[in-house]
Amino acid sequence: MSLNMKVESMLGYHTFEVPTAIKHGIGAIKNLGEELKAYGSDKVLLVTDPGIYNAGVTKPVEDSLKNSGVDYVVFNKVEPNPPVRLIGEGAKVYEQEGCNGLVAVGGGSSMDTAKAIGVEATHEGTVLDYEAAEGKKELEHRIPTLATIPTTAGTGSEVTQWAVITDEEREIKFNTGGPLIAAHLTIIDPELHVSMPPHVTAMTGVDVISHAVECYTMKFAQPVTDAVALLAMEYAAKYIRRAYADGTDLEARYGMAQGAMLAGLSYGSESAGAAHAMSQTLGGIIPVAHGQCVAAMMGPVMEFNWKGAPERFARVAQAFGIDTTQMTTEEAAKAAVKWMYDLVEDLDIPTLQEQGVPTDMTERLVDVAMEDPQTVGNPRDLSKAGYEWIYKRCFNQVPSAIV
Ligand SMILES: [Fe+2]
Repeated sequence: MSLNMKVESMLGYHTFEVPTAIKHGIGAIKNLGEELKAYGSDKVLLVTDPGIYNAGVTKPVEDSLKNSGVDYVVFNKVEPNPPVRLIGEGAKVYEQEGCNGLVAVGGGSSMDTAKAIGVEATHEGTVLDYEAAEGKKELEHRIPTLATIPTTAGTGSEVTQWAVITDEEREIKFNTGGPLIAAHLTIIDPELHVSMPPHVTAMTGVDVISHAVECYTMKFAQPVTDAVALLAMEYAAKYIRRAYADGTDLEARYGMAQGAMLAGLSYGSESAGAAHAMSQTLGGIIPVAHGQCVAAMMGPVMEFNWKGAPERFARVAQAFGIDTTQMTTEEAAKAAVKWMYDLVEDLDIPTLQEQGVPTDMTERLVDVAMEDPQTVGNPRDLSKAGYEWIYKRCFNQVPSAIV
């Protein structure tokens, strides 16, 4: 079942590149300072958010820098859905302080902020000039040495070649990226994940599974992204409930951290699908937490999509740990959808309405989702009617055929 491929995925010119050295292990953070010195960085901008910083999560990071004699300046102003103005502020500090490296500590917002600061530190203009869109400039220079230190198992931004930044004026989130923006190294240490509260573990963890599922089932998936996506699903499916229920379960934290990184390698090299097209466009209008928003959408999106790639969704069911031996392909594909609905319920993910999304703006949300580049690779063809059905299913305005 896993080898079933769409012809679209064989056309074109695929590449898979990992510019980021991946280092990991329990307690691995102690190596950060020496690693940075090996890259020639002796004064870094430590990019993080106030919550992480005030909770003391950056302490082992700072200890490692101090122990190795690496000077650092703290920039702890990262906010969710980081806007262009924040990038400018960080880039100014980077320049004024004479930094020669970046360390990002946190979730996707901190890592994407650091990547974008790196863009402004090495290019003319603002990060807005380098939006991945027609008529905009291509990145020309490698960003300064960047070490990503994820404190959530979610975005996978530690290894992706993208930064997602919010343009508050246009009310959109835009991407900038390519191999030049990727981190030089990441240090994945599950000990930094144990203080993550259950609801953050839940929403970022479902985001991991969504990256793997959306990339594995999309039209342009390639064998190498299939490989990492399937293992990401296996790790995350096995460990997500354990990590949610017992934050100090280091085995579960390690498994989730590896799952997040593997899923990042998959969708960060290709793309995602409807859930990410919807959540990114919605996130530009309403300040929802990305993972939580995706998690609330995943059941309806998978219910809509399975018909576009039934064999692949059946293989997803196996990766989720479902025994499909007595099932037809269609039964197995639907079992994967049901598994996702059950997971979201088990992890107490709030509905879109509970996240503050009004039910009467579907038309606008559908229009902007149609414009998102991730719509193109979705396994089932999307029209406005398709997106409308998914949104209505999210709002429980149409019945499910599966739950
Ligand atoms: Fe995501």
